[in-house]
Amino acid sequence: MMTFNRKTNEQIARRILEILFRASTKMSVKDVMAQIEPLPEVSNQVMFESAMCSCIPLISAGWVVNSGYYLAISEDGRMAFDEYADAGDLMKAAAQRSTKGWLAFRFPKSYYAAAKAKDQVVAEIRAARRISFRQLTSTLKGSTRSWKKALPIQLPRRIALSECKSGVSLIDFLKQSGIPLSEGGHAIFVPPSSFKSVFRSFAADYPTTVGLKILKEPGLANQTNYVVQAAKGDSKLHLNSIHKHEHLTLVANLLYSKGLGPRLFDLVEMEWGDQVWTAYVIEAITGGTPSMAQCEEGIGRLRQLDESGILTVSPPEGFDDAEFGCPDCDRNALVTEEGKFQYIDFQNFLLTGYGSYLKKTAMQATDASHFGDSSVFRGGNYLYQTVPGVNLPGKRSIDDRRRVLQRLLDEADASVKERLVLDIGCNIGMMMGQYLQMGAKWVHGWDRGHVTPHTEKLLLSLGCTRFSTTGTDITESSDLLGDIPKFLYPSLDGCAISYLAVRGHIGWLKALESIPWLFLIYEGHEDESRKDFEEYLTEFKSSIGCTVAAVEEYVDGDSDTRTLAILRRTS
Ligand SMILES: C[S@@+](CC[C@H](N)C(=O)[O-])C[C@H]1O[C@@H](n2cnc3c(N)ncnc32)[C@H](O)[C@@H]1O
Repeated sequence: MMTFNRKTNEQIARRILEILFRASTKMSVKDVMAQIEPLPEVSNQVMFESAMCSCIPLISAGWVVNSGYYLAISEDGRMAFDEYADAGDLMKAAAQRSTKGWLAFRFPKSYYAAAKAKDQVVAEIRAARRISFRQLTSTLKGSTRSWKKALPIQLPRRIALSECKSGVSLIDFLKQSGIPLSEGGHAIFVPPSSFKSVFRSFAADYPTTVGLKILKEPGLANQTNYVVQAAKGDSKLHLNSIHKHEHLTLVANLLYSKGLGPRLFDLVEMEWGDQVWTAYVIEAITGGTPSMAQCEEGIGRLRQLDESGILTVSPPEGFDDAEFGCPDCDRNALVTEEGKFQYIDFQNFLLTGYGSYLKKTAMQATDASHFGDSSVFRGGNYLYQTVPGVNLPGKRSIDDRRRVLQRLLDEADASVKERLVLDIGCNIGMMMGQYLQMGAKWVHGWDRGHVTPHTEKLLLSLGCTRFSTTGTDITESSDLLGDIPKFLYPSLDGCAISYLAVRGHIGWLKALESIPWLFLIYEGHEDESRKDFEEYLTEFKSSIGCTVAAVEEYVDGDSDTRTLAILRRTS
């Protein structure tokens, strides 16, 4: 049997408006119902509940007037009926006109259930107020390339845990192993020492200061929610609106960028027997509970962020919720050893004005990123690399480059998946982001000191976590190895080098001889002919043995033809 859902409601709403449009006077609910043809596989009860719920956005929008047991169409309702021939468009337009209408449209099942239970309605209204009408309706207006669809660009990492004991769940295994860990309502936190002692090789892929926050219910990152089961009195709207794990990485990164949360290093899916568990690899905060003054200062900064419109606090009571009560915010507030306030439960926030934040972050990077000629048509200096999820011009199209690169990697039978990638002359990091989207284990990028702060901020804003950068003026004798974080050393053997449009600026670096890379992704400059490429390659081969595994010439963005090649190391 078909259930009570949004599609059904849309069809019924359009039909109700049509019936009222054709009627010369107001009509009783019973007469309206009698004229609605039953939908296939929809019971009378579902039809009635759906009709009642469908009326809410129409009434709240002022398109249907309700007096007692009668319904009538207003002048605006007549215009809307003419304007929106499609049932989905009609309901979206109606829902955008009020919070109540939006709730009934967006969560028909929850809303109808809530309307039957009075206490629940109060919780829903509080939650709706907190989440704000702007945030609610933004989900209806989203364009096809909005940040929600494009981000995060980084793929969650898959880890096969060899420690698996058959018949025991991962959580029970950890609890029974006697290691120190702390338990919350929805997740357990495995501190750094326990992480290292139980999952040695997995932990070795990250800095030594990280712990593991594992969700208590198994499931893939994009299929499970942070809160799986509602407790009594929880607002369904609140629970429904908590971001999925992938978007929570954006919240965590935003709090970190603003100095208000710990550094997130990964979102991982851990294979344990035939189950998969989602976990966050996150910096452990070890300075204890904040003082009253430290907490109030930290909460004050969170309030400013909320007021700026980038994010909002999601619990129905907002900052009055115990989760924001100083000094410990229900164990969500901690301080670093240096006394810096950190709020650790990022699922308590919703991103509201994130599209604007992203665009602003990209625009701030324009001057640092710009390389080459200004363009009158592009409005002067413009980004060297396009930024996913942001509609701003860029000289190089990241999407096109990624497509050509993927084709060449396939041809060369090479892959960055689970590999360390070293991106030399990384600019604002958008190719680093592509490597992370292709499943790279980690990416380290180098560029000038005034560029890399933008690289870091932009990559974080795009949901990337497995990266680090060095801001420096590279010279031919630069000691690249000395710049790489020590925990990455075991991954150097078999790593990939990204050498895109930089040879003309820095030459062939001496360090390329001592790094045990497996393949190098080379891209030439605009004015470089195929013959030039062969000459540069001969020069390179005089010190490093390699073969050309794949090569192609291509054009992207505002750039002229370039050579792209995969060089495979032979000695
Ligand atoms: C033409 S852009 C290529 C950027 C990126 N590799 C790509 O292909 O999208 C050259 C980049 O190299 C950087 N660069 C040039 N000389 C450098 C140097 N000596 N040290 C560090 N970075 C340098 C520039 O800042 C710029 O971001």
